[in-house]
Amino acid sequence: MKIAIGSDHGGLSLKEVIKPFLVEQGHEVVDFGTATTDSCDYPIYGERVGEAVSFGDCERGIAICGTGLGISMAVNKVPGIRGALCTNEFMAEMSRAHNDANVLVLGARVLGEGLALRIVAVWLATEFAGDRHQRRIDEITAIEKKYSK
Ligand code: RB5
Repeated sequence: MKIAIGSDHGGLSLKEVIKPFLVEQGHEVVDFGTATTDSCDYPIYGERVGEAVSFGDCERGIAICGTGLGISMAVNKVPGIRGALCTNEFMAEMSRAHNDANVLVLGARVLGEGLALRIVAVWLATEFAGDRHQRRIDEITAIEKKYSK
C-alpha cells in the first residue's frame, strides 16, 4: 500500500519510527515532512497528507503532531478525508471497520512507540465493514458537500 506520512516537529520522532516499520511490512511510504526538529506549523503537514490521499496519490495517510489534535483538525478540512485520532488499538480497529478512516492521526507526546506501532498495524490490517456503516459514511460526505462552495 502507498502511504502518505507527515508530522510537525512534535510528531517527527514518531514519524521516523513508523516509516521503517511500514517499509518492513512491504508498504511504500511518501514522507511529506517535516524533516527537522525546528518548530513548524502542523496545518501545513495535515494539508499535505490529506491532499495526497484525497487526490488519490496515496491510498492512506498517517498524520502526527504532539497531541494529534491540531493535525487532526487540519487533515479533516481536506475534502474526502476521514481522519481518525486513535489512542488505542480498539479505536484503530473501529475507525477502519465502522468509519472507513483513510487517515490515521497519532499524538507523539501521548503514545509510547510500542503502542503507536500496534495502533498502526491494527489500523492497516482492518477492513471497512460496509453495510450500514456505508450509509453513515455517505451521510458524512453529504454534510461535506452541503457546506462546500
Ligand atoms: C506543537 O508544540 C504542538 O502544539 C503540536 O504538535 C500539536 O500538539 C497541536 O495540536
